[in-house]
Amino acid sequence: MKSTTLILIATCAVLTAVAGLQVVRAQAPSLAAGVYTEEQAKRGMGLYKEQCAACHGEDLKGNEVIPALTGDPFVTSWQGKTLGDLFEKISMTMPALNPGSLSPEQTADLIAQILSASKYPAGKTALPSTMDALAQIKIDAPKR
Ligand code: HEC
Repeated sequence: MKSTTLILIATCAVLTAVAGLQVVRAQAPSLAAGVYTEEQAKRGMGLYKEQCAACHGEDLKGNEVIPALTGDPFVTSWQGKTLGDLFEKISMTMPALNPGSLSPEQTADLIAQILSASKYPAGKTALPSTMDALAQIKIDAPKR
């Protein structure tokens, strides 16, 4: 493995440790009801390709060192947490080489795209981009 890759992984690990994950448990509207719009997910996809795909993969499936943002591994690690937790994680630590660079709206668009990739349904209302509102929405397993 190249040393730049190792430095990168180490940096990510430190960032994660520093940021931590606040687990906010809230009574919540279900993802099955459709909490984002198609349009929002499309915007998120554009952004994802530019800023996230290089590490997490075009298909969001990650690799040996970078976690998947879709499918069973993703759902297993996020189930029971809220979209607020995911929002916090992304806005504080991602993209790994330039954390804090995303606007709240961009972060919400990315979450919409991540939900879409995991087959949670789209709806008529766009996902909000505030921590308070997102912390109300609990992550449960998608219906397949
Ligand atoms: C330079 C590589 C890199 C880029 C670019 C990158 N990530 Fe990451 N990402 C990582 C690594 C490594 C981890 C695992 C360590 C951690 O959780 O911080 C991670 C973890 C995550 C997690 C937590 C996954 C989990 O289940 O724990 C999310 C969500 C995430 N990234 C979203 C994004 C989004 C959205 C973008 C684009 C804005 C992005 N990442 C860009 C490397 C990257």
